[in-house]
Amino acid sequence: MPDRDKKLQCLIDATEAGILARAADYSDAMVMAEQIFSALKNPGGLDTKEPPARLEACGHLENAYRQASRGPEPIPALRDAFAAIEPALAWSRRPKSAQVAEDFYDNHANAIIVGEGGLETRRDVRIGVSLLAPEIVYPRHHHPPEELYLVLSPGEWMQNDGPMVAKRAGDLVHNPPNVWHAMQASKTPLLAIWCLWIGN
Ligand SMILES: [Fe+2]
Repeated sequence: MPDRDKKLQCLIDATEAGILARAADYSDAMVMAEQIFSALKNPGGLDTKEPPARLEACGHLENAYRQASRGPEPIPALRDAFAAIEPALAWSRRPKSAQVAEDFYDNHANAIIVGEGGLETRRDVRIGVSLLAPEIVYPRHHHPPEELYLVLSPGEWMQNDGPMVAKRAGDLVHNPPNVWHAMQASKTPLLAIWCLWIGN
C-alpha cells in the first residue's frame, strides 16, 4: 500500500479536527464523519492524472485565507494545511456552469482533493473544496451521497428551500442524502471544504 503524501495527510487530519471540534453541535453528522475518517486511515491510489490548474476565481483565495485566519482553532491550522496542497489541485468549474447566472462562470472554482480527479484516487470518500467570489451564489443542487461542509470563510447557506442562514468559519453544514442546498458569499469570498460519504 503506498504511503500518503504528508501534506495531504496533514489536510485530512486538519479537516477531521475541524469537524470533530464541533461534534457536540452537529451530532447528527458524526456517524458519517466517523465512516469517512476511518475509511481514510487506508490510503487510496495515488495515480491522479489531472495536472494542477488554477482558474480566474482563485484570485480570491488570499482574501478567503484572511477570513479563515480569524476563525476559531483549528480553522487557522486547516487554512495552512489547505494552502500547502492548493498548488497541486486541478481547479475546475461546476459542470454546465455557463448556463447558470452570467456572473457565476468566472467567479467560482471547485477542486477535488480526495476521490477521482483528486490527489488520491478512491471511490468510497470524496473530499473537495468550493470557492465563491464576493456576493456570488452557488446554485441550488442535490446529490445522493450524504455531505458535510466545513466552512472556512463566512457566508450564507440554504437547505431545503429554507431561508439563507449565516455561517461562520468553523461551522458545519450537514446535508442528508438528496437534500437541496445552496450557498452565497457575503462581501468576502466563501471558501468551504466538503466531504461526501459514498461508501462501498
Ligand atoms: Fe453539495
